[in-house]
Amino acid sequence: MRTALCEKLGCELPIFAFSHCRDVVVEVTKAGGFGVLGAATFSPEQLEAELRWIDQHVAGRPYGVDVIIPTQYDKEAERTTEDLENLIPQGHRAFMDKILDDAGVPPLPPDERARVHRDIVNGRGNMTPDGARRLLHVALAHPQVKLVVSALGSPPPDVMAQLRAAKVMVGAMCGKGEHAARHVAAGVDVIVAQGTEAGGHTGEIATMVLVPQVVAACGDKVAVLAAGGIAKGSQIVAALALGAQGVWCGTLWLGTRESELDPFEKEVLFATRTEDAVRRRARTGKPVRMIKSTLSEAWEQPGAPKYLPTPLQGILYNEAHARVVRAKRKDLYSFPAGQVVGMLTQETSVRDVMVELQTEYLDTMERLRKLAPADT
Ligand SMILES: Cc1cc2nc3c(=O)[nH]c(=O)nc-3n(C[C@H](O)[C@H](O)[C@H](O)COP(=O)(O)O)c2cc1C
Repeated sequence: MRTALCEKLGCELPIFAFSHCRDVVVEVTKAGGFGVLGAATFSPEQLEAELRWIDQHVAGRPYGVDVIIPTQYDKEAERTTEDLENLIPQGHRAFMDKILDDAGVPPLPPDERARVHRDIVNGRGNMTPDGARRLLHVALAHPQVKLVVSALGSPPPDVMAQLRAAKVMVGAMCGKGEHAARHVAAGVDVIVAQGTEAGGHTGEIATMVLVPQVVAACGDKVAVLAAGGIAKGSQIVAALALGAQGVWCGTLWLGTRESELDPFEKEVLFATRTEDAVRRRARTGKPVRMIKSTLSEAWEQPGAPKYLPTPLQGILYNEAHARVVRAKRKDLYSFPAGQVVGMLTQETSVRDVMVELQTEYLDTMERLRKLAPADT
């Protein structure tokens, strides 16, 4: 399964794991894959602590960091020095509060609310180009970081130059063939072709259709990873057959014991059907595939306020989300998850997932070998 990209990055398997959880990153990396820490929700100080911990646990192996560098965002939120919460219109806040109040969800105790608020604002505040630059400054002080991936836009020229100078490979998320051409022109080394099936921010084109388009746009110069809808070894075979040099998975790790989700959240995850992973804007203001709930649907109803730009909708949503999780309300719980969520049924471990993916990969290759014309 080792591809040219594995050689360049120094990992054994072309299985890339996106996770906000350092334990997942470490376990995938130790198992021969390539863990990538989603850094966009951390403050620079938190990111420094996470990366230091990862460095200590991956025995010198390479890993990656993912930041969000949106091309469209609230410019005032980037410029302001005041509390970002003050930029959220009162009407939006009242709408969110009313949904939860009417459903009988208790408010957070004041000290917990203050902590949640601080964490969210410090983290979500980095979902702007300057916020991402602050995070990259931290990431580049960690030599084991060998790949930086940017989501929601091509890395700007100054970021490209900084990463090149540090000899770090650069990747970009991509949901459309035409975006691939833009990323190639920006000079990236890796494009993650992420189909609509994926959890998180996602476009409208399916992985099966997108990957060959992105591969064609990249030629030999840029490696492509297939993302969205991959949770089985057979799907890895399919991705490689389409011309990808590896797979990039996100939802799959949420069901592992190492993931950031607590037992209540995992219960919801394992009960979610594929068709309940829907694209909605309630979480960040941009379309995110996530678990459908009364909360996500309330924002889609006539009369709901217009979605706020990044990062403000995310701040508003995440405070409400913390309230829902504390009250353990399954009916209101929405978390990013892709269509493969319907294939996750019980808690497992990262190690078991990695073994299973490889076993299924080999079984599939064997099945395909039997289809090939016999040598004569
Ligand atoms: C919980 C969750 C959070 C995500 N957050 C980000 C993010 O911050 N940045 C990013 O580039 N991708 C993010 N993604 C998308 C993943 O990088 C990946 O492309 C996607 O999960 C692949 O599809 P899959 O969910 O079907 O495996 C997220 C995905 C999930 C499930």
